Amino acid sequence: MATQRTLSIIKPDAVEQHNIGNILAMIEGAGLSIKAMRMLHLTRPMAEGFYAVHKERPFFGELVEFMTRGPVVVSVLEGDDAIAKYRALMGATNPANADEGTIRKAYAKDVGENAVHGSDGPDTAQTEIRYFFPGYEV
Ligand code: CMP
Repeated sequence: MATQRTLSIIKPDAVEQHNIGNILAMIEGAGLSIKAMRMLHLTRPMAEGFYAVHKERPFFGELVEFMTRGPVVVSVLEGDDAIAKYRALMGATNPANADEGTIRKAYAKDVGENAVHGSDGPDTAQTEIRYFFPGYEV
């Protein structure tokens, strides 16, 4: 598998609970490299734009509310098969279904407040990295 890059977001719930360091340690422990990182408080338009594919979903309002309630940490991760590797490390979207050893099993509360986001494929990774790191060479 080739080297890939993916976008990670440590969400407001995990930041509030002081889990930034724990989550970054899990990321590095899985062999993924952190290539770029920013901490920022998303505005409503930024959160709505990022999650535009979900705008017809019933949970969209709740999702935007949650993602704008406090700061997040966005980062570009790089490694062998990074997209699938990070998704495996995150665990299932709903932490009730997440395996032991995953970030969501350890730190997520429910399907809404689920601690982290990771890109779901190469095209999404490119779009999402550019969204937060304009000009970054993907
Ligand atoms: P994420 O991987 O960031 O992508 C979309 C997000 O929508 C997801 O994680 C969850 O935080 C959120 N989400 C998905 N399903 C639901 C749901 N049923 N209720 C509330 N939020 C959801």
